Amino acid sequence: MTTPRPEIGIIGGSGLYSLFTHGREEIPDTPYGRASAEVTIGELAGRQVAFVPRHGRHHQYAPHVINYRANLWSLHTLGVQRVIGVGAVGSLTPSVPPGSLVIQDQLVDRTTSRVQTYFDCPDVAHASFADPYCPSGRRTAVQAAEKSGWPPVEGGVQVVIEGPRFSTRAESQWYAAQGWSTIGMTAYPEVVLARELGLCYTPLSLVTDLDAGVEAGSGVTQDDVMDAFAANLGRLNAVLDELVALLPGERDCDCASLKPGVM
Ligand code: ADE
Repeated sequence: MTTPRPEIGIIGGSGLYSLFTHGREEIPDTPYGRASAEVTIGELAGRQVAFVPRHGRHHQYAPHVINYRANLWSLHTLGVQRVIGVGAVGSLTPSVPPGSLVIQDQLVDRTTSRVQTYFDCPDVAHASFADPYCPSGRRTAVQAAEKSGWPPVEGGVQVVIEGPRFSTRAESQWYAAQGWSTIGMTAYPEVVLARELGLCYTPLSLVTDLDAGVEAGSGVTQDDVMDAFAANLGRLNAVLDELVALLPGERDCDCASLKPGVM
């Protein structure tokens, strides 16, 4: 009997370290070293899904040391075509309060030290990245969230900072003044690596706090983030279930063709 290959991959963020009660574990070999944890493959909504917690099972990898290349390569090697990236984020505006689910459509990269490409010398390639997220996956994620009773905030810009510290008030106010709506530490380079492999990437961002610069915000702590994530984990899992069920069998987007060619 052949083992079914997962076509959907879920990357869990802070607070989401496992997905299945039953699943088989795989540790794919990658040219980039080990993924953050064994990849667990199991059934969700009747489909084969691969799961990897980006911070490791015990939250042992900080955002700037996560092996993003190994994580994405592992999913790709297992057959995954669509990636759902779950993340805890702060809000830069009181109009998106903690407990909101955001399906952003843009990002600004403010990271500084991360390896962000599979195309080092001599294999030079430049990914098209004007629209970083899969439009079909985002649309489906909105439907899934609505169907599960948690209408999401659709669109917006997420600024991705290097971390692991949170922002100063001045930094946070500056980000908000640009019109950016959420802030996180891990959406980049995960999403560009997916693009380089021709994978779809759909974000599910759970707002855990108001960032330091927001008028009503008093500054963020790690406990705020973890507590808010834990409080919303049940409904986040419900959205993931709906989303996996609703994603079309065949990809109906251009993400595969956006994989760059070597120059
Ligand atoms: N992750 C969750 N909340 C955050 C915040 N306020 N800033 C950066 N990353 C976060």
